[in-house]
Amino acid sequence: EETRRESLMVATAYAAKFFQDSLWETADGQNIGLSYYKERAFTPETIRKFELGYSPDQWEAFSAKAIKEGYKEEFLTEAGLSVKRDNGSLYDRYRGRVMFPIHSITGRVIAFGGRTLKSDKSVPKYVNSPESDIYHKSNVLYGLYFAKKAIRDEDNCYLVEGYADVISVHQAGIENVVASSGTSLTVEQIRLIGRLTKNITILYDGDAAGIKASLRGLDLILEEGLNVKVVLFPDGNDPDSYVRQLGSSAFKKYIDENKKDFILFKTNALLKDAANDPIKRAGVIREVVESIAKIPDSIKASVFIKECSMLMQIDERALLTELNKMRMAKA
Ligand code: GTP
Ligand code: MN
Ligand code: MN
Ligand code: MN
Ligand code: MN
Repeated sequence: EETRRESLMVATAYAAKFFQDSLWETADGQNIGLSYYKERAFTPETIRKFELGYSPDQWEAFSAKAIKEGYKEEFLTEAGLSVKRDNGSLYDRYRGRVMFPIHSITGRVIAFGGRTLKSDKSVPKYVNSPESDIYHKSNVLYGLYFAKKAIRDEDNCYLVEGYADVISVHQAGIENVVASSGTSLTVEQIRLIGRLTKNITILYDGDAAGIKASLRGLDLILEEGLNVKVVLFPDGNDPDSYVRQLGSSAFKKYIDENKKDFILFKTNALLKDAANDPIKRAGVIREVVESIAKIPDSIKASVFIKECSMLMQIDERALLTELNKMRMAKA
């Protein structure tokens, strides 16, 4: 089993090298791949650090070379690098895409995300590696290997949606950043962060989907006993686009000035639709208390109840009664 996992990782490492060579050393890699990265304002240092690559726009370039060099078909297909045709031959899973290797916490390549260069909506924007014995996506955070030291040092972890967000934010000098790419945030991923820090700041996309995912994520984080803050970006922006627009120092300032604790974030997000309707306001308050009820530490929970009471101008005792009811129901 360990030798099998090792064989898979040898194959993914070989593929990472192949995609990097194809980026830096072929005409298409330079003209198509490197110019794409340049347009996204990724510096050569960043491209090297994250081991970004390019997959040639051909059906068998990778598979044929790998087989010729002695890599076993079984490992190439299990790692999701090659796909077997009915006639038994192999073709490349990633073709004509910019390649983002996904690293284990110890820095070994275990999977890939491949982004299309076409704006054509009929092709998937990202193709990701399938689950395998070396890649269980619910247990992996993109960027964690590059972020772990900074997460400890800063005692905080920024959580973003995508590969490009991790890379751009990291390049801007904020290195304590990871993404739950290819899946919505899981409990396992939160526990992984929890070993390094108890503080998470969510920086999801400034759109309806990002707000929805933030609300879901903050409940999961609270349930795991971690502290959570949220930064909302202007509509249509994600951390990658916004840091490119503002530059790194204005971006950092934006984060510091717009970081909200979960009560304030959730209240604002839900109140937008409730306006001054008292029944809707009551519903918002109930939902905020539901989040507070997820906090395992009851002293912490009561501090947030106080905040909610002041923010919504509601009697603290009424909120505590509601909190206790919710806790009873859960137990
Ligand atoms: P860019 O356009 O490259 O900036 O991507 P993005 O990260 O901003 O993409 P988006 O906000 O649409 O999605 C966030 C993350 O969801 C991506 O980084 C991917 O991990 C994942 N994702 C997006 N599109 C797809 C897709 O078509 N297929 C799969 N499997 N995952 C996707
Ligand atoms: Mn397994
Ligand atoms: Mn999005
Ligand atoms: Mn983006
Ligand atoms: Mn995005």
